[in-house]
Amino acid sequence: MRVLRIPNRSVFALLFLFSLSSSFLYFIYVAPGLVNTYLFMMQAQGIMIRESVKTMGSQMYEQVVRGTYAKMNGSLNGTEGPIDVNMTEISLEEIQELFAKDPYIQIGGHWKPRDCMPRWKVAILIPFRNRHEHLPILLRHLIPMLQHQRLQFAFYVIEQAGFHPFNRAMLFNVGFLEALKDMDWDCIIFHDVDHIPENDRNYYGCGQMPRHFAAKLDKYMYLLPYNEFFGGVSGLTVEQFRKINGFPNAFWGWGGEDDDLWNRVQFAGFTVTRPGGDLGKYKSVPHHHRGEVQFLGRYALLRHSKERQQLDGLQNLKYFPNITVEVLYKNITVNLTPELAPVGDY
Ligand SMILES: *[C@@H]1O[C@H](CO)[C@@H](O)[C@H](O)[C@H]1NC(C)=O
Ligand SMILES: *[C@@H]1O[C@H](CO)[C@@H](O)[C@H](O)[C@H]1NC(C)=O
Ligand SMILES: *[C@@H]1O[C@H](CO)[C@@H](O)[C@H](O)[C@H]1NC(C)=O
Ligand SMILES: *[C@@H]1O[C@H](CO)[C@@H](O)[C@H](O)[C@H]1NC(C)=O
Ligand SMILES: *[C@@H]1O[C@H](CO)[C@@H](O)[C@H](O)[C@H]1NC(C)=O
Repeated sequence: MRVLRIPNRSVFALLFLFSLSSSFLYFIYVAPGLVNTYLFMMQAQGIMIRESVKTMGSQMYEQVVRGTYAKMNGSLNGTEGPIDVNMTEISLEEIQELFAKDPYIQIGGHWKPRDCMPRWKVAILIPFRNRHEHLPILLRHLIPMLQHQRLQFAFYVIEQAGFHPFNRAMLFNVGFLEALKDMDWDCIIFHDVDHIPENDRNYYGCGQMPRHFAAKLDKYMYLLPYNEFFGGVSGLTVEQFRKINGFPNAFWGWGGEDDDLWNRVQFAGFTVTRPGGDLGKYKSVPHHHRGEVQFLGRYALLRHSKERQQLDGLQNLKYFPNITVEVLYKNITVNLTPELAPVGDY
């Protein structure tokens, strides 16, 4: 009886394969005792299989529900899918003239649908420095897309003055606090000025979980560079953003602040969602990071994401903005220095 010393699982596997073979009937005939044991085990396995079918069933159900939602958004009246991206440089005046034909776009680029209640009130925050040729290209594509999606929206351009390295994350924190002084936005989109969406069904609403919209960038050959990538364009509800204490303020120069945001989101128990298929495609206007220094201290900071999360963010930030309201956006100009966001020991 050497067979019995083999681990149980292998015995079942062998028996299972054996049961499929034609010698099975002969086996029943010659060894009735073992057959009883086998049948009992098959019954037990059957129960387990039914259990896993049940959980598989609920997962499939969830998939179907999600699929239906995706299709609903996908069949939004007015949206068309792929956008013909036009990267030709155009002046802000020309863009203003173009949208002046729409009497319902109010000062600051504020628009809301009149044929329905908007599902989300979305503030689009755009950190900015020295990219005057990019902004009109972005607005030209975003305004019609957001109108098709029947969202209420306005644009906030947060421009960094002074001579410190670019601090994208701190600009977003400033933009967040300023936007909420205007009205009760419920969804905040953090949008790089040089990322142009290629599909108008990439729905810029928020959800139960933080969302990463820019999943497929042309500059990365439309592949996600790494699973934790959270750069380019992302969206959080006001509650989610407050819960994670906003972006870190300590990232001077480009790189790392989006990874820190990813960590913050995970520590708060969220999981990031992304648009499926080709919805998350973006074209980037060339000359990314032109004239901006890379932030080399990012790895040291990222190692302490967790300790710093409650110390550095919305809560320790002071700033003194100059604000002007333009036709298509609000201009929030701030001079950023490290002293504006002191971090205690950790
Ligand atoms: C579609 O809309 C629903 C509800 O607003 C949202 O939960 C879901 O994430 C959206 N799906 C896509 C693919 O954008
Ligand atoms: C889309 O428009 C058609 C006709 O204009 C209407 O019957 C349909 O209900 C609309 N669908 C949605 C999702 O609004
Ligand atoms: C792109 O934009 C430029 C400037 O507004 C315009 O002259 C040109 O016709 C546009 N190209 C296409 C293909 O729409
Ligand atoms: C924002 O305002 C400042 C003056 O406060 C100005 O220098 C800058 O050009 C403006 N930026 C944009 C994008 O309008
Ligand atoms: C804000 O405006 C004042 C007065 O015009 C000016 O002195 C100051 O430098 C400006 N600050 C920034 C950050 O642009």
